[in-house]
Amino acid sequence: MVRSKTLFVCQNCAATYPKWVGRCDNCGEWNTLVEQVAVSSGKSVVARSGNSGKLLDVQTMRSISSREGATRLQTGFSDLDEVLGGGVLPGSVILIAGQPGIGKSTLLLQVSAYVAHNDAVLYASGEESASQVKLRAIRLGAEKSEQISFASSTSADDIAATIRSGGYKLVVIDSIQTLALDEITSAPGTVSQITNSSNVIIRAAKQSGAAVVLVGHVTKEGSIAGPKVLEHLVDVVLQLEGDRYGGFKIVRAAKNRFGSTNEAAIFEMNEGGLSLVKNPSAALLAERQNTDGSVVLATIEGTRPLLVEIQALVNPTNFGYPKRTASGFDLNRLNLLIAVLERRTKLNLSDKDIYINVVGGLKLNDQAADLAICMAIASAAASRRIDDGIVVFGEVGLGGEIRSVQSADRRVAEAKKLGFTQAIAPKGAAKNTFIKDVSDLRTALIDYLQK
Ligand code: TYD
Ligand code: MG
Repeated sequence: MVRSKTLFVCQNCAATYPKWVGRCDNCGEWNTLVEQVAVSSGKSVVARSGNSGKLLDVQTMRSISSREGATRLQTGFSDLDEVLGGGVLPGSVILIAGQPGIGKSTLLLQVSAYVAHNDAVLYASGEESASQVKLRAIRLGAEKSEQISFASSTSADDIAATIRSGGYKLVVIDSIQTLALDEITSAPGTVSQITNSSNVIIRAAKQSGAAVVLVGHVTKEGSIAGPKVLEHLVDVVLQLEGDRYGGFKIVRAAKNRFGSTNEAAIFEMNEGGLSLVKNPSAALLAERQNTDGSVVLATIEGTRPLLVEIQALVNPTNFGYPKRTASGFDLNRLNLLIAVLERRTKLNLSDKDIYINVVGGLKLNDQAADLAICMAIASAAASRRIDDGIVVFGEVGLGGEIRSVQSADRRVAEAKKLGFTQAIAPKGAAKNTFIKDVSDLRTALIDYLQK
């Protein structure tokens, strides 16, 4: 009797096991094994002598023609073009990842509609039916375009063949996790399907010169679902982040072979789809009420300065351990800052619940947020306000010292533009009367928190 042999494959690192185990020995992840039918290649691998290769066809660097001359496709969103390094390069493969419902399909349909003014676009979806996509296209005003072709398919081979036909300048595939190759028996979304399907698609893209955008899912921790190798295979990795309900949505490049990864595009979702936010600082501060616990931080998003309101709420703990929560800020960092505040100033926070909110659904990833967070907590704890015209930035060290941060000039320029009159910042940030420099946390709190 022939039993079809099954293997258990780790979805994180692709290690294989003959039996199911709870934890992958290779990468240490829990519960990542999936049962798959083993495909035997029929051929056993024989160590070869190494004499069978042929001479490579080499070119001198000077003689290689650069593709840079090739005109990049514009996406219709100027800031998104900048994130991509000046538009979408023909033949490139872009992976865009984000939480469900954040707006990946919406964004790509809008980009498709824009590109379709001049060039043919293929939109292949394995997630939605033609009529669902049509409904969305109607909302976005993209339904009339003759140049967007739609296909509902989950076959990587079929899509690759269609790409190779050469009829399209831009191909959107929604999503890589739904694609499958017939010869592989495992389910769509598994490591082997994702790796092999994307290889087939990428080869087709390079052959035909079509730019391909792959939609990727993320895991609940926020990293791109599937093998890490997927990120290595593609040319550009974009991340669409933000709050799912309302708030800003930010596109950042985590990897870009044709441009820098310092740019960011900020979007807002409304009835007509996503639109660029031209002046995000003003929008973020529009509803600000200066109460205690509210501090304006001058942060940097990509290369762009941004003013964000940080809010803190400090309440007495009613029962048990004090509670600390942060939305838009790293909780470990918050706990560290609270420890610094307790040790280096005279604030007693050990019996206080502390809540931090970054307004606008932004996720701060900027060391310079430290000082603003500390001042917001102190302001809330002591019921003292910070003056209306002040913005804050600076890193806080464990000794309570304020450390310098990058791009101080740009932060200050943005604050001036929005009518602020002072910046509390680290020493030596700039020779500038606008900046009131502070060297340690304690003096910052004493000098700038007023009754
Ligand atoms: P979607 O683009 O399908 O997200 P994803 O592909 O990343 O899973 O949808 C994002 C959300 O945006 C959806 O919940 C509905 C909303 N939306 C609008 O608010 N306005 C619009 O015009 C459209 C098309 C969607
Ligand atoms: Mg979608």
